[in-house]
Amino acid sequence: MKKIRLGVNIDHVATVRNARGEIYPSPLRAALLAEKHGADSVTIHLREDRRHINEFDLKKIIKKLKIPLNLEIAATKEMLKIASRSKPPFICIVPEKRKEITTEGGLNLDFNKNFLKILIKKLKKKKSRISLFIEPSLKDLEEAKKLDADCVEIHTGKICNLINKKKDYKSEFNRIQKAVKKGNDLGLEVHAGHGLTYISAKILSKIKGIQEFNIGHFLIGESIFEGIPSTIKKFKKILKS
Ligand code: PXP
Repeated sequence: MKKIRLGVNIDHVATVRNARGEIYPSPLRAALLAEKHGADSVTIHLREDRRHINEFDLKKIIKKLKIPLNLEIAATKEMLKIASRSKPPFICIVPEKRKEITTEGGLNLDFNKNFLKILIKKLKKKKSRISLFIEPSLKDLEEAKKLDADCVEIHTGKICNLINKKKDYKSEFNRIQKAVKKGNDLGLEVHAGHGLTYISAKILSKIKGIQEFNIGHFLIGESIFEGIPSTIKKFKKILKS
């Protein structure tokens, strides 16, 4: 069986730093600590409004990190320019709305399809692995394949909400399971992310064919109490079992 990779999203280390306009806590330090303690990749989302990670973080992290950096970006000309210049090994294209608290849903692949196609082609030429953040929709998986993405990341926000509220999550679980199978059948690498906790990661790790989990908010929050090394260790154990 293939090992499930853990991507650690450190955006919210920058959120805490920016809350006081200070130079600490350092996202670079968090990235290197995650690397040292078993993260398979580190994710940062460079948002249009730079509310957490900024370009300076991107430059420093990409220079020092030995494991792959996964850069999340919106499909815009500005982000295409930045990603082409910094050439991160992994890129995940995400939808972005200015007023949202976090990434609220998957990409609308029908909107701006021509630009998405150009963006993917140009970034693949720079040797970045391209992932599209999508809903667990069979149609979107087919679209992602047509757009020549290497991977898809399934938005797990809905199921995580249901699990947190102790509601019935069976039908969303089945929807994700079908989407993962479809992705695998199409030859796409399938990832999962958004809203994951120890409990939801454990539930979703039972779906065969998810090769990477990207986890941020809960992991960084839990690290306040347990520390990054111990939190990563717990997630790795969950993804292995
Ligand atoms: N994957 C993607 C594509 C995301 O946009 C995010 C949020 O930035 C995450 C994973 C991580 O979500 P969370 O912070 O809720 O764990």
